[in-house]
Amino acid sequence: MRQVPDNFRTIAAKRTPSARRYAILGNGRLARHLRAYFSAIGLAVVSWSRCGDPKANTFPDITHGEKRLQHTLAHADVALVLFSDPAIIPFVEKHQGQCNGNSQPVQWVHCAASVVSPPAFCAHPLMTFSHRPYALETYQKMAFACDDVERFGRLFPALPNPVFQLSADIRPLYHALCVLAGNIPQMIWQGCLQSFDDLHVPRQAVETYLRQVLANFLAAPNSALTGPLARGDHPTINKHLHHLQQGTDLQAALAGVYRAATALHAAGKHKNGDTAATHPSVMDTRA
Ligand SMILES: NC(=O)c1ccc[n+]([C@@H]2O[C@H](COP(=O)([O-])OP(=O)(O)OC[C@H]3O[C@@H](n4cnc5c(N)ncnc54)[C@H](OP(=O)(O)O)[C@@H]3O)[C@@H](O)[C@H]2O)c1
Repeated sequence: MRQVPDNFRTIAAKRTPSARRYAILGNGRLARHLRAYFSAIGLAVVSWSRCGDPKANTFPDITHGEKRLQHTLAHADVALVLFSDPAIIPFVEKHQGQCNGNSQPVQWVHCAASVVSPPAFCAHPLMTFSHRPYALETYQKMAFACDDVERFGRLFPALPNPVFQLSADIRPLYHALCVLAGNIPQMIWQGCLQSFDDLHVPRQAVETYLRQVLANFLAAPNSALTGPLARGDHPTINKHLHHLQQGTDLQAALAGVYRAATALHAAGKHKNGDTAATHPSVMDTRA
C-alpha cells in the first residue's frame, strides 16, 4: 500500500477541492499524521508549531512564535489544536474570537477525547498513531468520534471518514475504554515480549500467536477466550502467579495484571456463545 510521507505537500492540491482551509497546530504524532493525510487528499493546509521546524511551519521565516501563529491563522478557516491535552484549553481560551484574513472567526477543533472545551469542537480519531506515516486507505478508514455529526460534516466536508456521535459527558469514559482496548494490551504484550526474549522464544512464533488471538477475538469477541481462565483451571492459574511473582520486577508487575484479569473474568465479562462480530453499525460513513 502507498505510504504518505510526512512532508507531502501535494501538487494534487486541486484534486479534491474543499472550500475549507485548515491550520494544523502542533508537531506531535497526530499533527504529523493529519498533515500527511490532509495534504494527500488535496486539502488546503497551513501548519504551525512552537518549535519553528520548517516541516511543521508553513511560515518558518517568521521567527517569533506568536506572530507566526497569527500569520498562519490568517490563512485558515478551521484550526486543529493538536497539543498535549493539558495545553489545549488554555490555548483555545486565549485565542478564541481570532479572525482569519477574510475577517471570519477561526473555528477551533481538538482531537482529545477526554478534553471538554466548549469553544472547541472535539473530533477524536479512533486510531493509534506510530512514528511512521500510514497508507492513505488507513487514514480514510479511521472513524472520528465527535460532538455532532452534522457539524463534523460542515467542518470537514471533503473527508470520507466514518463518523459517530458521542456527547461530551461520556467522552472521558469512552476514552478510558480506548486506552484499555488499545494501549494497555500493548503494554502487556511489550512486557511479555521481553520475558519471551529472555526465554529465547522465537519472535515469529509469538507474532503468529498474537495475530491469531486478535483474529479470533474480532471474529467472536464473546467466545474466543481460551486458556486456564476460560477453563476455570485454578491450580494452573495459581502456579502461573507463583512463578511470575518469583521472577523479575517486570514479571512480578505482570502477576498483578494477571490477578486483575482473574477479577475481570470473575466479573462475568467473558460470555460464551456468540458466533460472529455482529454489533450493529451506527456510523455515518459519509462516503
Ligand atoms: N497519538 C495518538 O495516538 C492520538 C490518538 C487520538 C487523539 N490524540 C490526541 O491528539 C493530541 C496530540 O497528541 P500526540 O500524540 O500527537 O501528542 P505528542 O506527540 O505528545 O505531541 C504533543 C505536541 O503538543 C505540543 N505542545 C504541547 N504543549 C504546547 C503548548 N503549550 N503550545 C504549543 N504546543 C504545545 C508539543 O510541542 P513541542 O514538540 O514543541 O513540545 C507537541 O508538538 C492530543 O490531544 C491527543 O489526545 C492522539
